[in-house]
Amino acid sequence: MKGKKIILGVTGSIAAYKAAVLTRLLVKEGAEVKVIMTESAKDFITPLTLSTLSKHPVLSQFVKNEAGEWNNHVDLGLWADAMVIAPASANTLAKMAHGECDNLLLAVYLSARCPVFVAPAMDLDMLKHPSTQKNLQSLQGYGNHTIAPGHGELASGLVGTGRMAEPEEIVAQPTESIIKKKKKA
Ligand SMILES: Cc1cc2nc3c(=O)[nH]c(=O)nc-3n(C[C@H](O)[C@H](O)[C@H](O)COP(=O)(O)O)c2cc1C
Repeated sequence: MKGKKIILGVTGSIAAYKAAVLTRLLVKEGAEVKVIMTESAKDFITPLTLSTLSKHPVLSQFVKNEAGEWNNHVDLGLWADAMVIAPASANTLAKMAHGECDNLLLAVYLSARCPVFVAPAMDLDMLKHPSTQKNLQSLQGYGNHTIAPGHGELASGLVGTGRMAEPEEIVAQPTESIIKKKKKA
């Protein structure tokens, strides 16, 4: 993972608090991490936490300031060696599956040429819903990797599958894929 460039997308899920640990682990592994948050994600964890841990400003808007400076989604997509979206909300998964592009994270996703990993996090019935399952299948069909959610007690108090995979498990996935790519080269 040393020197590898990772984009970590964080979306609006209660599991967003785990993005802090995930960022910390990726940085500890030697990765350079740029975090992109959706607007909704900021209700769950602050950009300050993730910018401090990643040592980079957190990105979430296309346009940075009134002077017209902007975050170049195409450059960001090409910059990344891997993109990890964790937690991935049902909403963002649906938008990704349908090519929607109404925020910076989605535009970077559409521009990326690197492997993309999504770690869904949601309540059991949201995950089971045929539309969510269809979206996950579409995303896999486009070559994205799903990091399976775990089983256990959910934020709603219900018990089932939908908990975001643990950060340690998530970090292992791009690492493995990068190692495999190196072996092939
Ligand atoms: C307290 C709370 C917890 C939520 N947890 C989740 C969740 O775990 N997964 C999910 O898909 N949506 C969850 N939502 C709904 C999303 O925040 C909502 O769909 C939002 O529009 C997602 O936006 P984004 O995909 O742009 O980040 C939650 C909402 C609230 C208020």
